[in-house]
Amino acid sequence: MNLIAPWDVLTRSEEETISLGRAIGDSLSPGDAVLISGALAAGKTRLVQGIAEGLRTADRPRSPTFVLVNRHIGRLVLHHCDLYRLEGVMEVEDLGLMERVENGDVLAVEWPERGRMALPEDALEVTMEQGSGEDDRSVTLMQNGPASSRLLQAARSSFNEGNKGHAGVAGKAGS
Ligand SMILES: Nc1ncnc2c1ncn2[C@@H]1O[C@H](COP(=O)(O)OP(=O)(O)O)[C@@H](O)[C@H]1O
Ligand SMILES: [Mg+2]
Repeated sequence: MNLIAPWDVLTRSEEETISLGRAIGDSLSPGDAVLISGALAAGKTRLVQGIAEGLRTADRPRSPTFVLVNRHIGRLVLHHCDLYRLEGVMEVEDLGLMERVENGDVLAVEWPERGRMALPEDALEVTMEQGSGEDDRSVTLMQNGPASSRLLQAARSSFNEGNKGHAGVAGKAGS
């Protein structure tokens, strides 16, 4: 199998995280899953908002309060879940997320460590950490199978392509 090295991106504003998400959303194929780890306020939901923009969904994902899974309809159906409040694999299994991806929908999951075993094995694994500046986030994207490897490559080219036309996304940070 083609092993793709992890991709590290430093975003310097929430807009940059959203455009990284958009590149992922542009590149999603039916059945893909994106698992996003990171502390509170790391920017996980911002990334999902970008993913939804890339899929051109009618509405914008928000931080779920009580609802565990939200559905957004775009080019593909996106299920956005925040598993923060869940206790373990059994509770995650009950959400039926596997069935949804098997049906060709796509998944974006915050706090996947709550029930990693109940989530697709082949998934793009994203970790987000606070960087040195207040608005800096260090984002690492890793593949672990053929589908996520394809997604990682496609998202990376879409992100680089998108940034070419925008005179450098980083340039916007100070304005
Ligand atoms: N580079 C960045 N990427 C994403 N969010 C950022 C960034 N810099 C600052 N922020 C702020 O951090 C917060 C991230 O919130 P959110 O996406 O809801 O985090 P999480 O879902 O990880 O708890 C927002 O208030 C956002 O404005
Ligand atoms: Mg969140």
